[in-house]
Amino acid sequence: MDITKIIKTIGNPTPYDKGTDMMWTDKHISKFLLDAHINPEIGVASRTLKDIDKTVDMIDKMVCLGSEILDLGCGPGLYAERLSKKGHKVTGVDFSKNSIDYAIKQRGKNQSTIEYINDNYLNLDFEGQFDFIMMIYCDFGALVSEERISLMKMIHKALKPGGIFLFDAIDEETIERLNFNSSWEISEGGFWKPTPYICLSKKYHFKENKATLDQHIVMGEDDSYQLYRFWNHYFNQEDVEKIFRPIGFSKVESIKNLLTGSGPYNDHGVVFYTVSK
Ligand SMILES: C[S@@+](CC[C@H](N)C(=O)[O-])C[C@H]1O[C@@H](n2cnc3c(N)ncnc32)[C@H](O)[C@@H]1O
Repeated sequence: MDITKIIKTIGNPTPYDKGTDMMWTDKHISKFLLDAHINPEIGVASRTLKDIDKTVDMIDKMVCLGSEILDLGCGPGLYAERLSKKGHKVTGVDFSKNSIDYAIKQRGKNQSTIEYINDNYLNLDFEGQFDFIMMIYCDFGALVSEERISLMKMIHKALKPGGIFLFDAIDEETIERLNFNSSWEISEGGFWKPTPYICLSKKYHFKENKATLDQHIVMGEDDSYQLYRFWNHYFNQEDVEKIFRPIGFSKVESIKNLLTGSGPYNDHGVVFYTVSK
């Protein structure tokens, strides 16, 4: 194992260094993620059913019956199914084939009419089609600047006049509660790989960017390694206005204290924002 090369690669990350591999679309990891999404007991990858239902009820009150809704990063369709049941016309997009395959099976069972698209949401191009676009589980904060701008432009174009974009993000106080320690894992085969591996993890805080980085380097038995980097951002209302107004959005509103789960992405530190076209 070329330790010097590894140290050079992971030693001192700066915003917004990329990893070598992608977690959501990895064939092995995405099976674990799907299990986490659909396990109603745990708030990892998706939230608990209680909080999903609360969020869906909130969305249902924001839109008229029969609204056209686009769910970006819909995962296995937990929100899409519920919104469809409430009488909305839902389109879900996710680049995880495992999640979309599961969602399509559920659609068959529930005889719902959701349209699922297995693609990167950064590639979408709709025009004036949706009343409501949503992105749930703090995924908006995971985008780096150029991606964020192109996504906001895509969303603005895809919304009808007066349409709403909803997303959630952690607040500034949550940062104080995060653990910025290092950790390691040895496994004979588990979340990151089906074969034996060692994983070294560290979380970083970049105050000037209001960003965090979760970095995991996974070393297997052959001399290869995979480097996973997850960027996230925290916002306040002023930040959200600054980001969205230049794109043409107005009326930024925030909803606090909706979630009842535990952990930084599931509790009172998560704020929902709506911006209107
Ligand atoms: C944290 S999960 C949340 C899933 C769902 N919104 C929920 O709360 O149940 C993030 C989802 O976004 C998807 N995703 C991340 N980046 C994406 C991209 N660029 N294009 C499409 N899907 C993406 C992942 O595959 C994953 O299913």
